[in-house]
Amino acid sequence: MELRLGFLASHNGSNMQAIIDACRNKTLKSKPCVVISNNSKSGAIDRAKKENIPFYHLSSSTHPSEEELDKAIIDSLKLHNVNLVILAGYMKKLGTRTIKEFNNRILNIHPALLPKYGGEGMYGILVHEAVIKAKEKKSGVTIHIVNSEYDRGPIINQTEVPVYENDTAETLAQRVLKAEHKIYVETIKMIEEGKIRL
Ligand code: GRF
Repeated sequence: MELRLGFLASHNGSNMQAIIDACRNKTLKSKPCVVISNNSKSGAIDRAKKENIPFYHLSSSTHPSEEELDKAIIDSLKLHNVNLVILAGYMKKLGTRTIKEFNNRILNIHPALLPKYGGEGMYGILVHEAVIKAKEKKSGVTIHIVNSEYDRGPIINQTEVPVYENDTAETLAQRVLKAEHKIYVETIKMIEEGKIRL
């Protein structure tokens, strides 16, 4: 089955770009079909424009009611026949209907080795700061399926990244982000090849 990808991203969208690039150069067979962002000024929207991928700004400013926002997200994904939803730095909690509608078909990336350093309030640079503070020798990246529990859905792939003694949260974040780009593409490829079954 051809995977039709729908992205949700709030900021830069470098993970999304890595996946789009892999689709373009045929590393992946999947097709990027739509980009949704809650931030009208996000890098993700700029990237969608450049790539000629349909995009939508959907947020509490366009849809003040949570239920309507949830529905608008589902409608946009369905309009483009999306069958795999990729969260790529999406900073909003997904609505319950979206999670139900795309049950087991929503992936998220987290910049640490879950279940450590996850959960509410653990995002972005805060994750790396916590890892450094705890003097961990390794961190990493986790890809998991999204369910209603924050950062708690089934883990489908993980990779380790070393933490060096002189690391700051920023230098660690850069090393982890590189690993993120790689593992997200690899994971989608494994889904394409049936090596990971959702
Ligand atoms: C990544 O570190 C991802 O793990 C986290 O948000 C960041 C998004 O980066 N959820 P980008 O927008 O893909 O560049």
